[in-house]
Amino acid sequence: MNFLRERILRSADNFDAKTYAETGFFRDCQTIKTLEREISTIVGRPNILMVGLGLESMSGYICFTPFKVVAQLEAANIFDFGLTLVDSDPRVIKDIQTREYLYWYDDYLSPNYKNNITEYNKFLQKINQVDSLVACNRFQATNTIEISEDEVSKWRKTIDYDVYHRISVPLSFNRRVKNGSIRLLEEDIAVARISANGQKYHFCEILNTLYLLTPQGQKLTLKNISSTLAKGGCILFDDGEKRNIDPDTPLLKRFGGWLDNMEIAQLGLRLEVLEENEEYFFGKSLVGILRKVS
Ligand SMILES: C[S@@+](CC[C@H](N)C(=O)[O-])C[C@H]1O[C@@H](n2cnc3c(N)ncnc32)[C@H](O)[C@@H]1O
Repeated sequence: MNFLRERILRSADNFDAKTYAETGFFRDCQTIKTLEREISTIVGRPNILMVGLGLESMSGYICFTPFKVVAQLEAANIFDFGLTLVDSDPRVIKDIQTREYLYWYDDYLSPNYKNNITEYNKFLQKINQVDSLVACNRFQATNTIEISEDEVSKWRKTIDYDVYHRISVPLSFNRRVKNGSIRLLEEDIAVARISANGQKYHFCEILNTLYLLTPQGQKLTLKNISSTLAKGGCILFDDGEKRNIDPDTPLLKRFGGWLDNMEIAQLGLRLEVLEENEEYFFGKSLVGILRKVS
C-alpha cells in the first residue's frame, strides 16, 4: 500500500467522517519511555496491550507506534513477548497488516526540525538502521525515488516532490502476526475480547483515545482493561479538561469527568501522575498511569 496514494484518496473522498485517527512519528515518546521502565520490572514473558493506534499524520497515512515499539523491544534483546493491538477502525488494522516501511516527512522548515532529527537519529541508532531518503511525487504517489543525502537540497526545491525519511518495519513483524505473538483486533475497546489465553497484561497503552469515547464507553473500557491486567501492571493514559471536540468527555473528576479516587480504587487501580501540563487552548491535562494494585 502506498502511503501517499492513500492520503490523496482519503482527502478526496472521505473527509466528512471524523475518525480522529491522527497520530505522528514522534507521538510515542511517553509510550517508549514508560514501557522501557516498566519492562525491567516484569517477571516472565511481557504481555502488552496497545489500544487506539492512529493513522493520519500531517504528511501521510501511516500507523507508527506498534512498529516502533516492536523495533525497540527487539533492539533491547526482548524477543519473546505478546502484543495485542486494538483499534475499531478497519483502515488502521489494514495498514498494520500490509505496511513495509515507515515514512517520516522531512519537515525542514519546522521550528522543531533540529530536535526531531536528533530524536530520529537516536531512534535509528537504537534499532540499528541507517537513514534512507526518498523523494515522493505529490501528484503521482507511485512515483517514489530513492535519493542520497547530497541530493536532498535539490529535491527540496522541486515543486512536485516531497522528501521523506524511510525506515523498514521489523522483518519479524509479519512472522509474529502469523504465529499469534502479535494479535490484531478490529474491535471497540469497550467490548473487545482482549483476554489472551488467560494471560494477563503487564502494560497497556491507550493514548489520545479515551476522550473519543462516551463516559459509558470509558467505564466499560477501564473495566475491560483492568480485569485483564496483572497485579503491578499498568495502563498508560492521558486526559485533560478539554479537547475542544463536541461533546468533550474528560475522564478524571478533576477535569470534569466521572473517574474519582473511589472509582479508581473500585477498579483495583491507583493513579500515578507522570506529566502535568496547562495551556491556553486545552486547559489542564496530564499523562499518567493507572496501576493494578488489587
Ligand atoms: C487520535 S488516534 C490516537 C492514536 C495514537 N494512540 C496516538 O496517540 O497518536 C485515536 C485512535 O483510536 C481509535 N479508536 C477510537 N475509538 C475507539 C474504540 N472505541 N475502540 C478502539 N479504538 C478506537 C481510532 O480509530 C484511532 O485510531
